Amino acid sequence: MSRDGAVLTVVLDNPTRRNAQTPSLWLALAEVAENLDPEVRVVVLKADGSSFSGGIDLGMLTPEGVAGEVSLLAPAAEGAEAMAETIAPYQRGFTAWADVDAVVVAAVQGHAIGAGFQLALAADLRVVADDVHFAMRETSLGLVPDLGGTGPLVALVGYSKALEICVTGRAVGAAEAVASGLASVAVPVDELTATTADLVAAILAAPEPAARALKPLLRSAGVAGRDEQLRNEREAQGRLLHDLVTRAQAGA
Ligand code: ACO
Repeated sequence: MSRDGAVLTVVLDNPTRRNAQTPSLWLALAEVAENLDPEVRVVVLKADGSSFSGGIDLGMLTPEGVAGEVSLLAPAAEGAEAMAETIAPYQRGFTAWADVDAVVVAAVQGHAIGAGFQLALAADLRVVADDVHFAMRETSLGLVPDLGGTGPLVALVGYSKALEICVTGRAVGAAEAVASGLASVAVPVDELTATTADLVAAILAAPEPAARALKPLLRSAGVAGRDEQLRNEREAQGRLLHDLVTRAQAGA
């Protein structure tokens, strides 16, 4: 993780295992998001190596588990409710990014499978490399996506396509990702960092109060009723216009 002014970069840094994910990673991600410095305006989620993430560490689904990690099979054996309770804090590693007013950008290259796909979906924007390979593989393991990915996937590509992507577990490549709204832009792998930096610069160039007000406003648009959303719009505008006018008057 590194900080450069108003930009926080969070890096998955286990490329030899294709950034396979574990519960401790999910808790760490939740901790970062939930304690994000309010001065941070953009968060970049990226990953070292050839793949963004190969998804959950498959060792977690074996009786031996993964050294240093809790067992997932023990609560599963205990009961459905115990398993569901175990998952809840892990979901925050994904969903907490929606609750920060910083814009979250995922830079995604290579494989983004299962939990890797869901982590990319946890961001507000995705910049992808032309070798990107999104796949929701949970179904083929007899499971469902459970790390916050279903909501954003449906919102981005629509119910039918989301169902088809999840039930087949097929690969979604760069061209389809852009065409379906999953990604903002696809670029050659060696341009991923520079293109992400350009997008970050464009976000930072927007007037800060307006940019900060936008994310909660657009996020609530998908869930709020019409009257509530209209109130959200006018209240946000009220605050912004009030600040603009009072600052102009103070400067006059
Ligand atoms: N869990 C544990 N180890 C993994 C994972 C994973 N999810 N992904 C990759 N690795 C390990 C491999 O076992 C391999 O280890 P080794 O060098 O000790 O043999 C190493 O990372 C490199 O992996 P390769 O398969 O050699 O790399 P490649 O680039 O050819 O393929 C890919 C990458 C496609 C990600 C492949 O590793 C793969 O299919 N992984 C499993 C994907 C998966 O099914 N994830 C679960 C989805 S469901 C969910 O996330 C909830």
